[in-house]
Amino acid sequence: MEEKTSSLLLLLFSVYMVAGSAMAKSTFEPCRTTDSCPALLGYTLYADLKVSEVAALFQVDLAALLAANAIDLSVPGVEHRILPAGLFLRVPTVCSCAGGIRRSLSTRYTVRPADTLASIAASVFAGLASADQVREANSIQDPAALDAGRTLVIPLPCTCFNSTDNFLPAAYLSYVVRDGDSVPDIAARYSTTVTDLMNVNAMGSPSVQVGDILAIPLPACASIFPRYASDYGLIVANGTYAITAGHCVQCSCGPGNLNLYCTPASLAASCSSMQCSNSNLMIGNFTSQPTSAGCNVTSCSYGGFVNGSIATTLTTSLQPQCPGQHQFPPVIPPPTTVLHDSFLAPSPLPAQAGSAITTSPKSSVQGTSYALPGVSAASGPAGSSSDASVVSPLSYILSSLFALSVGVFGALM
Ligand SMILES: *[C@@H]1O[C@H](CO)[C@@H](O)[C@H](O)[C@H]1NC(C)=O
Ligand SMILES: *[C@@H]1O[C@H](CO)[C@@H](O)[C@H](O)[C@H]1NC(C)=O
Ligand SMILES: *[C@@H]1O[C@H](CO)[C@@H](O)[C@H](O)[C@H]1NC(C)=O
Ligand SMILES: *[C@@H]1O[C@H](CO)[C@@H](O)[C@H](O)[C@H]1NC(C)=O
Ligand SMILES: *[C@@H]1O[C@H](CO)[C@@H](O)[C@H](O)[C@H]1NC(C)=O
Repeated sequence: MEEKTSSLLLLLFSVYMVAGSAMAKSTFEPCRTTDSCPALLGYTLYADLKVSEVAALFQVDLAALLAANAIDLSVPGVEHRILPAGLFLRVPTVCSCAGGIRRSLSTRYTVRPADTLASIAASVFAGLASADQVREANSIQDPAALDAGRTLVIPLPCTCFNSTDNFLPAAYLSYVVRDGDSVPDIAARYSTTVTDLMNVNAMGSPSVQVGDILAIPLPACASIFPRYASDYGLIVANGTYAITAGHCVQCSCGPGNLNLYCTPASLAASCSSMQCSNSNLMIGNFTSQPTSAGCNVTSCSYGGFVNGSIATTLTTSLQPQCPGQHQFPPVIPPPTTVLHDSFLAPSPLPAQAGSAITTSPKSSVQGTSYALPGVSAASGPAGSSSDASVVSPLSYILSSLFALSVGVFGALM
């Protein structure tokens, strides 16, 4: 009851309101505390950009950016891959509370000679910010005199809504409405309903205009880390990954269920122990034993990053059936050809979503690098005794990438 009341209040107070001179609407979520949540920005590349350039533009961790898009990190030199203009990406960000509303203020942009506030807002940041918002956030008196080299804070839209939608875990994506979009299309594309989008965005009618920004709830896997963990509140959208614990742990969501599943990522040179105490299991490992009453499953799971070390939890439970080998969300190679629409999310024909990337001649890579041992139909049936092997698809190649992202992010500091 109490929950319902508070979330109703959130809805009532979320205002789908006019922002900026272009009359674009966007959803603001009022907030009071200093807490924050992980959120996603829907970003359409304005030019061909390297993976590392997109990461640097938003000052996000390169591995986290790839993981949020389920892009294979193992492709050699993936950071140098050039992503095509027009590609749609999910950029992970920290949604904080500033000035009474939710927004992300962690992005800094250094003005280049030909930039204007309008080009920065509409082009470089693809409509995620308006020129007026950038001007206000930086107290710019004379927009005409924008000095090259000046560093601007770029306020970016985000919402938390308690990381839930209809009481189920949700990761919120800030989506800039594009030409040809309609609310029913967007709802269908993101497996939600028109009613839900209208409720979340406090819209009076199901109509949108190009440039409006919608908060879209994505089904996600929630974490249950303690409040004092530095990755408290971690939430991972279905079909994607997150990298946490100082690059030591990767967590995935889906495809079969929405239980967060974390394994060692081996991205970082030194990680604290990932073994559950009083056990020889590492995080992500489990053992199962069929018993007359069901299956006795013991699993070691990730419990958050606490004071620089990896917390683990060992649990034993009786389940109706023994679990089979874990299935990970499929990863894709970095898209390199020009796509006429986007991948992952906005595709006008949902049936084509999976094939959109096959225009790349390199798509055969997909079959080889991601074949996960054990997920073939021939692998052992559920119920075979005590098999704890789990192979994570992102982990084995991350070490080389880590060196690079340290370079990139070190340089930014
Ligand atoms: C937020 O979600 C949690 C569960 O994830 C729930 O316990 C809590 O009551 C919710 N708070 C509000 C204000 O809806
Ligand atoms: C999660 O994603 C998988 C694969 O895309 C899909 O089959 C499944 O229905 C999704 N689950 C939910 C709850 O949306
Ligand atoms: C389940 O397995 C654990 C560890 O293997 C064991 O300690 C426990 O006694 C088992 N429980 C049952 C009900 O078999
Ligand atoms: C982290 O652990 C160290 C050593 O165990 C301790 O000295 C320090 O106070 C801890 N810091 C926090 C914030 O708990
Ligand atoms: C635990 O998982 C790791 C990979 O995450 C794997 O290499 C190891 O063999 C597993 N251990 C057991 C006992 O199954």
